[in-house]
Amino acid sequence: MAKIFVTRKIPGNHLEKLKEVGHEVEISEFDRALTPEELLEKVASKDAILSLLTDEIGGDLMDAAGPQLKLISNYAVGFDNIDVKAATDRQILVANTPCEEVNEAVAEHTWALILALSRRIVEADEATRRGGYKGWEPDIFLGRNLIGKTLGIIGLGRIGGMVARRAKGYNMTVLYNKRSPDPEAEKELGVTFASLDELLAKSDFVSLHVPLSDETRHMVSSDAFSKMKQGAFLLNTARGPIVDEHALVEALRSGHLGGAGLDVYDNEPNIDPELIGMENVVLTPHIASATYEARGKMGELAVSAIIDTFSDKKPDNLVNQEIWGTRRK
Ligand code: DGY
Repeated sequence: MAKIFVTRKIPGNHLEKLKEVGHEVEISEFDRALTPEELLEKVASKDAILSLLTDEIGGDLMDAAGPQLKLISNYAVGFDNIDVKAATDRQILVANTPCEEVNEAVAEHTWALILALSRRIVEADEATRRGGYKGWEPDIFLGRNLIGKTLGIIGLGRIGGMVARRAKGYNMTVLYNKRSPDPEAEKELGVTFASLDELLAKSDFVSLHVPLSDETRHMVSSDAFSKMKQGAFLLNTARGPIVDEHALVEALRSGHLGGAGLDVYDNEPNIDPELIGMENVVLTPHIASATYEARGKMGELAVSAIIDTFSDKKPDNLVNQEIWGTRRK
């Protein structure tokens, strides 16, 4: 039976299943992310790690764990916190938790941010709570209708597609950009392919749905902001470092950008203090997938990847499934 280290307690009772099938499970005693030093110490002699996106897992950590480490099961769809190449080089399996529950949750959260921005919900709520409502007024908290506006989706994968589908209900025009045009998605979702520059120039709302990689790191920089429409809104529910946060602050400060809805940040958990003071910015603490449904499925998938691996059954959710046949034993 395998020795498993869980870097932080997760919601639900999924971890019980690991114990039920006889695995030895150690769960971090802290209700916080571990420091790199703590992590290094805790993974020693473990066969599998159930990690969170807040854990940086590089080759050094894999080596510190020891040659018996066979699997890293990441409790997230994104796996940019793991050096997958280093794992693959060492024949260590990496699993993630791709599922419709997370995709739907992130798409819904993106829309929550779009609506909060366009109708100034957070500002209006704060003013109302402060006793600012003195009776109906013709000119307070004027926002923008969505009907007839253009939504630009960068990255039309599962989540991007779900965001696009919801735009139909608001009678918006949807442009998308991805590596190559997707005629099937165009037919199904009524979306139109645009080059990145065209999408930036034409969209009233630009929403990011690409994974974080060397290619996408800071892809939204001052150059991209200068190409965006005056008064446009940026939404980021993907990964913080896709946006150059300093450039974003500058674009908002100058008034070129109308606002931003952010769930993720360039240097989490730190947020540029200037963003915090801006009224046309809605900030949430990386909670786009924080629904009971999504977290339930994430727990189920992260645990089933461990149970399957140690029963010699190939999990469906392997990131580097090409090494299944040559994996560490
Ligand atoms: C993911 O699954 O990658 C999400 O960002 C977690 O909240």
